[in-house]
Amino acid sequence: MLQIERLVRSFGGVRAVDDVSLSVAASELRGLIGPNGAGKSTLFSLVTGHLRPEQGTISFEGRPIEGLRPAARARLGIAITFQTVHLFRGMTTIENVMVGAHSWTHHEFVEAALRLPRHFREEPRIRERARAALAQTRLQEWAETPVESLPLGRQRAVQIARALCGNPKLLLLDEPAAGLRGEERRELSDLLAHLREEGLTMLLVEHDIAFVNRIADRVTVLDVGRVIAEGSPAEVRANKAVIAAYLGSATDDGAVAGR
Ligand SMILES: Nc1ncnc2c1ncn2[C@@H]1O[C@H](COP(=O)(O)OP(=O)(O)OP(=O)(O)O)[C@@H](O)[C@H]1O
Ligand SMILES: [Mg+2]
Repeated sequence: MLQIERLVRSFGGVRAVDDVSLSVAASELRGLIGPNGAGKSTLFSLVTGHLRPEQGTISFEGRPIEGLRPAARARLGIAITFQTVHLFRGMTTIENVMVGAHSWTHHEFVEAALRLPRHFREEPRIRERARAALAQTRLQEWAETPVESLPLGRQRAVQIARALCGNPKLLLLDEPAAGLRGEERRELSDLLAHLREEGLTMLLVEHDIAFVNRIADRVTVLDVGRVIAEGSPAEVRANKAVIAAYLGSATDDGAVAGR
């Protein structure tokens, strides 16, 4: 589904993404791990089109996409949930999810915000898709709740529901479990496992290796912009280069503390 070949992107003198190649198969949940500054978020921005590569190619379902703008990539089915929470306070949960429909609707976000006619014609369809996304993320009972009153774990699920409302084929998740603990963390991991069973292809960035290993089919490890390991969770866990990259921050069970 996604094929990245020899991608390079630098900032000043720093090669944030340095000759990265990576392929993700349809319906796979791929983990992407690596220490702070490894280039994980930069790689995501290159895939969504928010950043352009200096070298290398990106294909999605066999078609080169590195020349396309972010909106065009979203229309092809690439969605992202960002590392920082982007929810609209003062709006309900379902309204926040409906925002994600912009990839397949014909009107612009501005038309929706100003409540122009084209938006009203499409609104029932958008609401229906948003309801389905809320069901997928088990958030139905909070549809009409102001989003800022939800606990952090559910706000993260709202971000995922918003991405699902865009009908993605590939979902990029940038640290969806950051700041969550215990039960909330488990619920999020169950949600991602459930989406995987539904056949959604995902690329998951997370600092907690145990979290990733529990649900990922395969794991790719980045360190200072380069792929240093790739394989099954068990293979990656046993890899000496990976252990070295994480040395100092690893805990007894192999988990790396989130920030
Ligand atoms: N917009 C930017 N301008 C300048 N440097 C940047 C920019 N974005 C990222 N970098 C640098 O590129 C490198 C990779 O950063 P990136 O955010 O991709 O890492 P990351 O793996 O997502 O880290 P984290 O785990 O902290 O989120 C870092 O050295 C970072 O300082
Ligand atoms: Mg990051």
